[in-house]
Amino acid sequence: VFAHLVRAPEDPILGVTLAYNKDPSPVKLNLGVGAYRTEEGKPLVLNVVRRVEQQLVNDLARNKEYLPITGVAEFNKLSAQLIFGADSPAIREGRVTTVQCLSGTGSLRVGGEFLAKHYHQRTIYLPQPTWGNHPKVFTLAGLTVKTYRYYAPATRGLDFQGLIEDLGAAPSGSVVLLHACAHNPTGVDPTPEQWEEIRKLIRSKALLPFFDSAYQGFASGSLDKDAQPVRSFVADGGELLMAQSYAKNMGLYGERVGALSIVCKSADVASKVESQLKLVIRPMYSSPPIHGATIVAAVLKDSNLFNEWTIELKGMADRIISMRQQLFDALRARGTPGDWSHIIKQIGMFTFTGLNSEQVSFMTKEYHIYMTSDGRISMAGLSAKTVPHLADAIHAAVTK
Ligand code: LMR
Repeated sequence: VFAHLVRAPEDPILGVTLAYNKDPSPVKLNLGVGAYRTEEGKPLVLNVVRRVEQQLVNDLARNKEYLPITGVAEFNKLSAQLIFGADSPAIREGRVTTVQCLSGTGSLRVGGEFLAKHYHQRTIYLPQPTWGNHPKVFTLAGLTVKTYRYYAPATRGLDFQGLIEDLGAAPSGSVVLLHACAHNPTGVDPTPEQWEEIRKLIRSKALLPFFDSAYQGFASGSLDKDAQPVRSFVADGGELLMAQSYAKNMGLYGERVGALSIVCKSADVASKVESQLKLVIRPMYSSPPIHGATIVAAVLKDSNLFNEWTIELKGMADRIISMRQQLFDALRARGTPGDWSHIIKQIGMFTFTGLNSEQVSFMTKEYHIYMTSDGRISMAGLSAKTVPHLADAIHAAVTK
C-alpha cells in the first residue's frame, strides 16, 4: 500500500552526518550539525553531568513512574529562573507557566500548536535565514510562516534596516520568532541598542515574541549576559513565549530536554494557559522523559554543581572562540582572497562563511569536509589539528 511513495530527501542538517559517516577518508571532518566536540574531535559529556548521573544511579528511592504531563516541576521552575533571572518579577507574580518539552524542537512545536489553537493571529514571522527546521515545525503546527529580513550578505552582518521595515509592516498581533542569542545559522546578533529598538517596535505594534533559546551561555560564555535581550522583554511587563534547550549548553543532545515557558499578564491567565498546554501535550506524547530533566534540575538547584557547570560551559564557549581566531589567522596566513573578519565577529556555534553551495560541494568532494550547503560551519567541530585542513579547503574553494 505504500508502493506509490517517493523517497524523501535526507534532512539538510542531520543528513550531513549520514554522508560523513559513509566517507572512509581518514581526514574527513564533520562541521555540519551543531554539536560540541573536544580538541580530539570527540563528543563531550560534561563532568558535572556524569557526577549527577552517578548520584542518580545510587539513589534507590528513585523510580521510573510516569511524570505529570508538564514534566518535572522543579526542572520547570529552575528553567524559568535560568532564562528570566532568579529575581524576575514575572516569576514572582506567578505570571509564567513552564512545561518540560522534548528539547528546543519539542518546545517550539508545543508552543506553535498552542498558538494555532488559541491565538487570534496565525502568522509567524521567521528571520531570513533561520534554522532549517523552524519553517517545518511551525507550518505543521498550523501556523502560516512568513519571513523578515535579517542577514545582509554584503556585510555578513545584520540587515537592521530591513528587519525594522519588515516587522514594522507585519500585521498587528503577528507572532515573531527571535533567536535569543547566537543566531543559527548566521552567528549574527543585534547589538543591545538594536535589541532595544526591536523590543519597542514589537511592543508598540502588539506583535507577540516567541524566543528560541538554544545557546544560552554559548554566545558570550555568560548565562546572564546571553539572557539579557529576553529579560528586557519580560521587564516591560508584556507577554512572550520561550523555547529553551539544554542540548548544547549542558551537552544533553540525545536526552531531549527543554522547556516551553509562556509569560502571561496575570497568574490566573498563566494557570489557564497551563491547563490548555496539557491538552496539547497529552495526545502528542503523553508526558516527557524523566532522565535528562532530573539531571538539569540537580545541576541548577545546587550552587556547587551550578558553578562547576558554568566553568565547563565557559570552557566550551572559549574553545569555540579560539577556533574562530585560529581559522581567521590561518586564512590570513594563506592570503585567501576576501575579508574573513566575520569569522571572529560572528558568535555562538556557527560561522556563516559566505561560501556558496558549489564551493561547499567542492570542499566535501576534494577535502572530505562536511557542512550544510548554505556555507554554515559548526566551529564546535573544529580543533587546532583540523584548522589547517579547513583553511586549505576554503582557500582552494575560493581560488579555483
Ligand atoms: C543544528 O542546527 O545543527 C542543531 O540545532 C541540530 C539540529 O537539530 O539541527
